[in-house]
Amino acid sequence: VTKPDRVVVITGVGGMGIAAARRLGTGATLVLADLDPVRLGEVASDLRTAGYEVIETVIDISDPASVTELATSARGVGPVDVFVHTAGVSPSHASVEAILRVDLLGTALLLDTFATAMAPGGAGVVVASMAGSLMPLDPGLERRLAATPSADLLTLPDLAAGTLTDPGLAYAIAKRGNQLRVRESAVTWGRVGARINAISPGVIATPMSAAELSGPRGEGMRQMLEASPAGRIGTVADIVAAVEFLTGPQSSYITGVDLLVDGGVVASLASAR
Ligand SMILES: NC(=O)c1ccc[n+]([C@@H]2O[C@H](COP(=O)([O-])OP(=O)(O)OC[C@H]3O[C@@H](n4cnc5c(N)ncnc54)[C@H](O)[C@@H]3O)[C@@H](O)[C@H]2O)c1
Repeated sequence: VTKPDRVVVITGVGGMGIAAARRLGTGATLVLADLDPVRLGEVASDLRTAGYEVIETVIDISDPASVTELATSARGVGPVDVFVHTAGVSPSHASVEAILRVDLLGTALLLDTFATAMAPGGAGVVVASMAGSLMPLDPGLERRLAATPSADLLTLPDLAAGTLTDPGLAYAIAKRGNQLRVRESAVTWGRVGARINAISPGVIATPMSAAELSGPRGEGMRQMLEASPAGRIGTVADIVAAVEFLTGPQSSYITGVDLLVDGGVVASLASAR
């Protein structure tokens, strides 16, 4: 009798998704999901060469039908033991509309759908961002971001096209929304005996941050890193260490929290103020 594999679902096969797949995918069926079929195929092929068992699913996380399809295909293998959500878009490339649709709505849909796809004892991590921890939002907006049903999120007047025009602000709102919805989801995920937490990375060396660092905000970001307690850019290994902790047995009493993994950037900015 062969023991059934653990099921590990990872959305996004960018810098963080690949690193998470390598660390968490040994002895598991890895279900990888991304919008970009070429990139997904390349990553899956590399991982298979390295001995991993991989299922590929092309999805758009902002499309409810697509998210349901991912959950169904994962459940076809078995209840999900580990769920890691890294898919997303960045404010240096994406429009306000795309950031809200993918980073805010997409994450909300995944949290809703995977609440019933998890195995008892399973655990998930949503990658938010320190952008969601940098500035306080209006408490009313925070309540709406936390509790509005996913299907109605994009019609919130706070997020209307004429009201919200800065992609950086849209990203901060989306990522704060992720942190708040993870807290809410701890309750629904708990009903099946699963946990869900967020990780908010600071500046991590991936293609996404390379674009930011070479853009108009690059110099300010470098100064911010130099002034931080860690004094360096983060690596995907820094993030995956936190993902491993939050999806592993050491954290069985932790759910609904956000773990800031930023080398102390938020602390040093708050202290400077
Ligand atoms: N890199 C950083 O410095 C940093 C810092 C803070 C937070 N983050 C967050 O971490 C997460 C992962 O970052 P990364 O550096 O690995 O990013 P990345 O750009 O390397 O990878 C993101 C992946 O998401 C996929 N994707 C985009 N839209 C999608 C959609 N609609 N449906 C499915 N897949 C989609 C892309 O194709 C890409 O493969 C993101 O949510 C990002 O906002 C990154």
